[in-house]
Amino acid sequence: MRIVRDVAAVRAAVASSGRVGLVPTMGAFHEGHLSLIRAARASCDLVVVWLFVNPTQFNEAADLVAYPRDEDRDARLAEACGADILFAPAVEAVYPPGFATTVTVSGVADVLEGALRPGHFAGVATVVAKMLNMVRPDIAFFGAKDAQQVAVVRRLVADLDIPTRIEVLPIVREEDGLAMSSRNVRLDPHERRRATALHRGLVAAQSAVAAGERDPGLLARAVADVLADAGIEAEYVAVVDPDSFLPVETLDRPTLIALAARVGSTRLIDNIEVAP
Ligand code: PAF
Repeated sequence: MRIVRDVAAVRAAVASSGRVGLVPTMGAFHEGHLSLIRAARASCDLVVVWLFVNPTQFNEAADLVAYPRDEDRDARLAEACGADILFAPAVEAVYPPGFATTVTVSGVADVLEGALRPGHFAGVATVVAKMLNMVRPDIAFFGAKDAQQVAVVRRLVADLDIPTRIEVLPIVREEDGLAMSSRNVRLDPHERRRATALHRGLVAAQSAVAAGERDPGLLARAVADVLADAGIEAEYVAVVDPDSFLPVETLDRPTLIALAARVGSTRLIDNIEVAP
């Protein structure tokens, strides 16, 4: 595996390859990232892993400073999963002096995470548009944990005629159900135990759907109750259409239940798909 810092080198590698897969990441790899790299390896001729802690998508300066970084470890893991290139550009290579363009997606990017984290999805959309232009992959692999990010990226790719297929892989969870996240390392042991309530709450709602519940308000309440028992107050529990992220009025089609909550000072998100 080669570590590459500049666009020219990536473009040269991509030019002489067959099907190119891109795995966009901000590093601090866990099994969720590795599952994306393995999926890319299984279906592509050249696997490029993008590693860039994108400053423009952090709406809290402290979150950016505290974001875990370990490129050597990430490089070893990416190589072990079959990556060909680790593309890890410097901040100045992505945002050179004079950089003045922002990609904003309306609608799906305005609600939930978009409303609570001003500028977040503009940062994501801009860097995703840039990486897709730099690498020009046939397929880009995203994780389902960032479900709203997936919806924003699908919108962006469709609207800007970017010829990359977006592939989404399931959330990878710890044995006790906690969704894998680079932020989990910030939880102390007590918070780590309490954080299992996020997935337990979503599973409780899923069981309610299986038992015939169709009222989004009551499903959201079922999740919030489990969180409250663990002393966690959600920032939101939303029962939404997976593409538009608009609230559904009744559960008459595949629907997403998405939540965000702080456990201690760590902000976590999770979601589950439910179907009538
Ligand atoms: O999901 C992430 O890690 C980031 O939002 C992404 C897609 C790599 C853009 O910086």
